[in-house]
This record gives sequence, C-alpha cells and structure tokens, in this order.
Amino acid sequence: MANQLLKGKKGIIFGALNDQSIAWKVAERAHEEGAEFVLTNAPIAMRMGEINGLAEKTGSQIIPADATNTEDLENLVTQSMEILGGKIDFVLHSIGMSPNVRKGKHYTENNYQYYQQTMDVSAMSLHKTLATLYKHDAMNEWGSVVALTSIAALRIFPDYNDIADAKSLLESIARSFGYHYGIAKKVRVNTISQSPTVTTAGQGIKGFNEFINFSEQMSPLGNAPAVACADYCVSMFSDLTRYVTMQNLFHDGGFSNTGVTQQVIERFGN
Ligand SMILES: NC(=O)c1ccc[n+]([C@@H]2O[C@H](COP(=O)([O-])OP(=O)(O)OC[C@H]3O[C@@H](n4cnc5c(N)ncnc54)[C@H](O)[C@@H]3O)[C@@H](O)[C@H]2O)c1
Repeated sequence: MANQLLKGKKGIIFGALNDQSIAWKVAERAHEEGAEFVLTNAPIAMRMGEINGLAEKTGSQIIPADATNTEDLENLVTQSMEILGGKIDFVLHSIGMSPNVRKGKHYTENNYQYYQQTMDVSAMSLHKTLATLYKHDAMNEWGSVVALTSIAALRIFPDYNDIADAKSLLESIARSFGYHYGIAKKVRVNTISQSPTVTTAGQGIKGFNEFINFSEQMSPLGNAPAVACADYCVSMFSDLTRYVTMQNLFHDGGFSNTGVTQQVIERFGN
C-alpha cells in the first residue's frame, strides 16, 4: 500500500520499544512511504536492543534521549538535522509511563513524586520537545507533530490512574503549542486518540484485557489496530492534511461516539 506519501520528508520518531509498539509500526509505514527519519528512545530502553533491528530495517540512525531531559532533546534535534541534512518535517511523540500504575497505587493514594514523573514523561515531554524544535527553528513550514493519546483523557477509566490526567495535559499542550507554532511557522500539532492496543505500555494497565474486549464490542468498526494507527499517522505527516492542527483526532472505530451497541445491550437482557 505504499504511495510515496512521505517521499523527501525527514522525521524524528520517539517510542519504538519492540515490534508491538505503535511507534514501531509508524516507523515501518513511514519508511515504506519514502520518509527518512531518526529513531529515539530513553537510554534505558536502548538496553533491550530491539530498536537496532528496526534501525537496520528502515536505514535509520538511533539517538538516545530521555524526553524529560532538555539537554538530551537539544542534542537529538541538532544531531537529527545534521544526519538528515536539513530541517524536520514530522515528529511522532509516542511516550507514556506512570510509576503509580507500575507500582499498583490506587488513584486516591497516589505518590506525588511519581505523579510528577508521570506528568513529565507522558505530557510535559511533548512541550519540551516542541519548545526545543521551536528554539532551533528545526521544523519546515507545514511540518506535522503527532502525539498519541487515549480516550481516558476525556472519560473515566479508573485503572488509567494518573495517565488519564497526563493525557488531558498532553491534549491541551497540543492545542496551545499548536496555536503558537501555527502562527509562527505554520507547523501543525495534533493528538491521535487511539483504541486500546496490545503493547508493553498498554498491558501495564490493570484490567486492560477486559477493557480491550469491552471497547471491541462498543466500537462499530471494532478496535483500531496499531498498523491502522500507523496509517493514520502517515496521513497526518503527509501534505494531504495540511490544514489540520490543534485537534484531538479519534482513531477508535467509533468508540468515543457510541453510547451503547446492540451487542452490549444483549449482555444485559433478563
Ligand atoms: N497501547 C494502548 O492501548 C494505547 C492506547 C492509546 C494511546 N497509547 C499511547 O501510545 C503511546 C505509545 O505507547 P505504546 O502503546 O506503543 O507502548 P510502548 O510501551 O511500546 O511505548 C511507550 C514508549 O515510551 C517510551 N518512554 C518511556 N519513558 C520515556 C522517556 N523518559 N523518554 C523517552 N521515551 C520514553 C518507552 O521506552 C516506550 O518506547 C503512548 O503515549 C501511549 O500512552 C497507547
């Protein structure tokens, strides 16, 4: 299905941990569509080493960066421009982590140091990335930044804990920075709200398998798979979506607009 939609475009892709990661699929699809990009992830994620295979497959270089660390981000942005030979056209922010979720804390008893880490890693890292790109004038006009989010930003899904709060902030940062970057440089910033998807981050959430089954039955089209999310990201990086900015875009098979489905109603019959 390759149409060279991203031919000549240069990007930075955050968050490919293993072949289940949504960012991994985005990298594969972007490569098929003719893009060149740098892969990045937290230094700790490099130890798992799987990203090397993706780099080889897509002819990409890897630059480790903790997305909460502005020095790392400065290095990432300046080095990426050197490696790619010019300014950046697209960035994927595909990062999420909550120590409170990892340690099994209940929302009402969260640890506030962990809470700050969740906010920093899962939300403020988008602001820091955008601010670094902005400061270095690193994006081409009509460039596109996409961050991945979840319906838990807008509706209560209790086990998402403080990730839900971080996603609300992430979506707000996309709107606010999207305004300033649009005015200054015609750069677009959007979030894509993806169906629950089986990945390392997803499976860390309690009750995740039940939620996937529930949303499958609550979505007229069924849950959107990771590969389809990658297709959507590619379209958002392409020139075909140039006037889309500051949006939270649902990629969820219709889940977010469904009150109930017949399939679910029938489960509650007498
Ligand atoms: N899986 C789902 O159900 C689902 C649904 C909607 C949205 N999302 C979002 O999609 C994005 C990607 O998650 P995924 O499901 O592919 O899981 P994943 O675990 O494969 O990816 C999460 C990534 O975040 C990276 N990361 C964590 N801390 C970091 C840091 N300090 N600096 C840089 N990178 C860091 C991890 O190394 C990992 O690569 C996340 O934002 C997630 O919240 C996931």
